[in-house]
Amino acid sequence: MFYILLVPGLVVLAYVFRQVVVIGRSCKSNTKLHGKTVIVTGSNTGIGKTTAIELAKRGARVILACRSKQRGEAALQDVKRESGSNQVVFMQLDLASLKSVRSFAENFLKTEPRLDILINNAGLYMMGRTEDGFGMMFGVNHLGHFLLTNLLLDRLKECGPSRVVNVSSTAHNWGRVDFDCLNTHRTLRKGTSMLDSFGIYGDSKLCNVLFTHELAKRLKGTKVTCYSLHPGGIKTELQRNADATVQMILSNLGKFFFKTPLQGSQTTLHCALQEGIEHLSGRYFSNCTARSVYAKARDDAASKKLWEISERFCGI
Ligand SMILES: NC(=O)c1ccc[n+]([C@@H]2O[C@H](COP(=O)([O-])OP(=O)(O)OC[C@H]3O[C@@H](n4cnc5c(N)ncnc54)[C@H](OP(=O)(O)O)[C@@H]3O)[C@@H](O)[C@H]2O)c1
Ligand SMILES: *[C@@H]1O[C@H](CO)[C@@H](O)[C@H](O)[C@H]1NC(C)=O
Ligand SMILES: *[C@@H]1O[C@H](CO)[C@@H](O)[C@H](O)[C@H]1NC(C)=O
Repeated sequence: MFYILLVPGLVVLAYVFRQVVVIGRSCKSNTKLHGKTVIVTGSNTGIGKTTAIELAKRGARVILACRSKQRGEAALQDVKRESGSNQVVFMQLDLASLKSVRSFAENFLKTEPRLDILINNAGLYMMGRTEDGFGMMFGVNHLGHFLLTNLLLDRLKECGPSRVVNVSSTAHNWGRVDFDCLNTHRTLRKGTSMLDSFGIYGDSKLCNVLFTHELAKRLKGTKVTCYSLHPGGIKTELQRNADATVQMILSNLGKFFFKTPLQGSQTTLHCALQEGIEHLSGRYFSNCTARSVYAKARDDAASKKLWEISERFCGI
């Protein structure tokens, strides 16, 4: 009798665990976006793509800002088909090149009259250097988005109430920002081991949270609000550059412990759409809820310093 109940009991427990702990809440907002324009960076795959599909379904004009023309155009067809909308546009943007960020912004500002929501979603887990000689994860996950956001800020202000949403990660909890290293080596840490790469990913995601903190202060008195978030653990292509063993572990555990991209885009959608969260501008969300963060992630001096060094690096 005991064993007969044990198996279904475990199945139910596993199901509940997956629903509550892994998947969590989903975005409940019914906000429609007809007449509004949204940019989603890194939207050719992963949670960026599902976010783009969901926003297009709600009527938004969606700009897919992706680095590869080929992957971007393939995604354009998928997003149009799956959302049933033809208000979807691909525009080339390589966040590892400040020149590309500038030409994207120029092109966008020239051809699109509105910007209502900017979703800084693109991110990578990869060592190396950007075109401009910055550490790759600092350059793409932080600096490229920093410049992009700044170049688009006036348009966001004109179209307020508008929002900036930064996809960060719980990995920011193990990050730190070493300003001396940034100053001398244009990268977050000098090492190249697997541990260093985990470290640098966390550092770059801490930069996202600090930026949101500083940006919210700079946006006081405007109708632009901003949010950073952890989307959860999701089965996407993010681990594609990780070591083979890490990839194998992730792909096996992933089936149970990770979310699907659609589940993984819920907190992004919540920050982009939920009515009445404006007073939470600058905060960090996960599981569709504002969370408290460690002191280092709301450090006023560090966020100001990071803002200033980023301005200098971008020449703005
Ligand atoms: N998956 C997770 O468990 C998890 C957890 C916490 C946070 N996140 C964050 O969620 C965000 C989305 O990640 P994902 O899991 O959906 O990963 P993904 O499947 O690897 O998608 C990342 C996207 O970013 C793009 N990208 C990378 N480098 C770029 C560059 N230089 N310029 C423009 N776009 C670039 C990629 O384009 P290509 O296809 O051309 O490379 C791709 O579209 C990231 O910020 C990541 O840090 C993910
Ligand atoms: C997510 O939120 C739901 C509802 O508030 C809660 O029941 C669940 O435990 C949360 N999950 C996590 C992982 O925080
Ligand atoms: C998002 O993060 C990027 C990079 O860290 C930063 O440039 C941008 O200002 C941030 N925006 C918001 C709203 O936090």
